[in-house]
Amino acid sequence: TLDARVDSLMALMTLEEKVGQMNQYNGFWEVTGPAPKEGDAAKKYDHLRKGLVGSMLNVTGSENVRAVQRIAVEETRLGIPLLIGYDVIHGFKTLSPIPLAEAASWDLLAIRKSAEMAAKESSAAGINWTFAPMVDISRDARWGRVMEGAGEDTYLGSLIAYERVKGFQGDDLSQTHTILATAKHFAGYGFSESGRDYNTVDVGTSTLYNDIFPPFQAAIDADVKTFMNSFNILNGIPATGNSFLQREILKGKWGFEGFVVSDWGSIGEMMVHGFAKDGKHAAELAVNAGSDMDMESVLYVEHLVSLVKEGKVKESDIDDAVRRILKLKFELGLFEDPYNYCNPEREKEITGRKEIRDAVLDMAQKSIVLLKNEGSILPLKKSGTKIALIGQLAADKDSPLGSWRGMVEANSAVSVLEGLTANGENQILFERGPLVFEGTQNFASEVKVNQQDRSGIQEAIRAARQAEVVIMVLGENGFQSGEGRSRTDLGLPGLQQELLEEIFKVNPNIVLVLMNGRPLVIDWAAKNIPAIVEAWQLGSESGNAIAKVLYGDYNPSGKLPMTFPRNVGQVPIYYNQKSTGRPDIPGQDMVFWSHYIDSPNRPLYPFGYGLSYTTFEYSDLKLSAPQMSNAGNVELSVTLKNTGGVKGKETVQLYIRDLVASTSRPIRELKGFQQVELAPGESKMLKFTIDEKSLGFYTPTGEWVVEPGDFKLFVGGDSSCEMNVDLTVE
Ligand code: IFM
Repeated sequence: TLDARVDSLMALMTLEEKVGQMNQYNGFWEVTGPAPKEGDAAKKYDHLRKGLVGSMLNVTGSENVRAVQRIAVEETRLGIPLLIGYDVIHGFKTLSPIPLAEAASWDLLAIRKSAEMAAKESSAAGINWTFAPMVDISRDARWGRVMEGAGEDTYLGSLIAYERVKGFQGDDLSQTHTILATAKHFAGYGFSESGRDYNTVDVGTSTLYNDIFPPFQAAIDADVKTFMNSFNILNGIPATGNSFLQREILKGKWGFEGFVVSDWGSIGEMMVHGFAKDGKHAAELAVNAGSDMDMESVLYVEHLVSLVKEGKVKESDIDDAVRRILKLKFELGLFEDPYNYCNPEREKEITGRKEIRDAVLDMAQKSIVLLKNEGSILPLKKSGTKIALIGQLAADKDSPLGSWRGMVEANSAVSVLEGLTANGENQILFERGPLVFEGTQNFASEVKVNQQDRSGIQEAIRAARQAEVVIMVLGENGFQSGEGRSRTDLGLPGLQQELLEEIFKVNPNIVLVLMNGRPLVIDWAAKNIPAIVEAWQLGSESGNAIAKVLYGDYNPSGKLPMTFPRNVGQVPIYYNQKSTGRPDIPGQDMVFWSHYIDSPNRPLYPFGYGLSYTTFEYSDLKLSAPQMSNAGNVELSVTLKNTGGVKGKETVQLYIRDLVASTSRPIRELKGFQQVELAPGESKMLKFTIDEKSLGFYTPTGEWVVEPGDFKLFVGGDSSCEMNVDLTVE
């Protein structure tokens, strides 16, 4: 059996070699070139040859991976192969939309397929482990990493977490096209104060159990093989050194059998948090708290052997960590063939192939959200129209790739300009407008935003004057969201807002296409611009997907996975808030309730919102019985009709409110949804089963309860839907 194979290998290992398996290094030299002779790289290379490295990250390409794998397999005493990790977040060489955009599709099959394609392409380049999916729930659009998650909602986020894990890992890890997945960041990272990356997290246990944990549990249900801990503290204790999280909950209560990798350097950062007094202490705290692998702190390999000898760390805990790591190496089939993932012909054949291109285009179309379409200005005719296409992002082939972009070639996305030209026959007058983003950007550099350049404004105005329709592509540079990219201003960067207002003065017939990695504040546009299309950062096929939606080849069906605020002051803003003792009831005329004196509480666009080129009508909301026992179930039915002129897809959403409970419950919570495509005039009855899963919640001590009492069930096309029925649980 697998366990016996692991045991017999471990019986041969020295303590040093065991600790080596718990050590992960970043790719540190030109792996196919000469061996490094000095400095850090030489030290790491030496460790690799001595069997003191269990995994490497950021080595990619079948030839490069073969080169490092060969050292591990042929030069070390026991020849244990390496895990090769990489952030395959939304594709590898061919990119899908950023994960937040994919979440806007609410299309679980497409999302799974997208992860499957990413696994296929990256595994062909030698990778056998991705640090994805990020399943952190976040309610704060200032946080740059919202682009990497599934948005603000735990129910949707959990379903997506499940699908992404299944997509990456498949059913059989020994297959060459499947890779290990990682549920990250455990836990609470998405709740960093004021949306500033790496900042303090301070959440209560009710939030932890009900909002933060469930997507991680869903990942476990999908059999996720690894977890990554996180940079933040939780209740004052860094997640990396947090045994409540890693030992009590994850490996204890949830019975997780895979291993936990630290985040980059997070073991060492426990010193900076003021939690560990030195590197040795940090290693002791991390391993005792259940962190199994050290990513790049170099502290396990330096200190664990002496910590065991001094009795500060139990050898049985080292054995447990190593057993978890080795087991996965066996499951991947690396002991049968360590070069399983290293076939250059396969790499060439798979990279960028049609099947992958088609899947990312399909995903991109499904991710687009139509926010406004006054006077049905969209869809546009495919020919015979003079269109002014304005904005630097309209011709940008790089920004649509977004952040966490794998090994994609820079400037390789289909731009909006190219997409419109390829998918229609209109006359397109392109004008860049002012230069907003300067120079070339990369993963680690700050994006330079130009606030002064007015050079292209007059040309853009001239083009707009001549055109029947203006398409403006505005938003963020591809590297303005992602890790380390928090913003305090969620407006359109640089002079883009000014440009929009200037163009509006001469031609208000504007379709605003937004390209961005997070919800933006677009209150002026929402008031004035007739059509707004949220096109996120849609990856390699971006321009084609946008053109297909603008021309009506694809009827938009996306729904927002995050609330769009009116202003930054409302953030964090999310639909499933609590009532408070003084909720904002319309019509109140005194000041002592929970509100702002200068802004409504209501968001600009709520969670779950998104339009179509057709319209839908909801009717006949019914329950099979007005009461149920807490172990029973009832059926909810509703009829949906396509009342518009074209075929369209609607995401029918079910929200529940528990009116009185032992802890104050959210004013509504998503508990189900179904996607239905209907022809014009067609209607369909949909059914939802309401059971304990829809009605229960976690107490502040983590027990799941379904409490008797009254509930309201809402059904509609977004989280502000009003149609509801009452249910009593006895
Ligand atoms: O996987 C990432 C993590 O999400 C953030 N820090 C670096 C890791 C490896 O690149």
